[in-house]
Amino acid sequence: MFITLEGIDGAGKSTHLAALAQWWRARGAEVVLTREPGGTPLAERLREMVLHEAMDPLTESLLVFAARREHVLKVIEPALARKAVVLCDRFTDATFAYQGGGRGFDHTVLAQLEQWVHGQRQPDLTFLFDVPPEVAQARRAAVRQPDRFEAQDEAFFSRVRQAYEQRRLAQPERFAVVDATLAPQAVAAQVLAIMQERAT
Ligand code: TYD
Repeated sequence: MFITLEGIDGAGKSTHLAALAQWWRARGAEVVLTREPGGTPLAERLREMVLHEAMDPLTESLLVFAARREHVLKVIEPALARKAVVLCDRFTDATFAYQGGGRGFDHTVLAQLEQWVHGQRQPDLTFLFDVPPEVAQARRAAVRQPDRFEAQDEAFFSRVRQAYEQRRLAQPERFAVVDATLAPQAVAAQVLAIMQERAT
């Protein structure tokens, strides 16, 4: 099973990756915990560039998809082939949300890149941690050194959130929306309840 976690910066999704991993391991599954951009040594180097160097939106999109190509070929596909559960912190929905929604880059080009890079491979389940941008911003205020995305304003994150929602409406059966405004324990309970339901 290929599971991804998505949401705007400050939604708190990363906290729940470990709980999901534990849930699967308790059921005897091999779990591969990974993230995007990143997940291989080369892709992690591309991540550094994308998160910290100014560039135009096409360059940014090409770099995240280049990182993804490496990650899909070297980590995700081999893991799925040996029946491991892949838990990935962000995937292509984030590109549609951040480069497409946030930066305003052309969705048609992104859809083409998606097709080239991972053809028919889509996550089996995507948790969308939904939170209003102002709530996420308050949470991010605790972050000392924001990267190029975390430093964006509320309008940027409103566009990111809307683009996630469009993606969800296009493939509703793949997504599970989690109300990330709640306390972490309540969010964790939602996540595990959804996992239980989808895994059976
Ligand atoms: P994030 O997943 O929030 O990691 P951390 O919790 O370590 O900050 O950071 C990744 C950032 O990269 C996030 O701001 C969204 C951005 N991003 C894109 O812009 N496009 C993409 O395709 C992906 C995967 C991430």
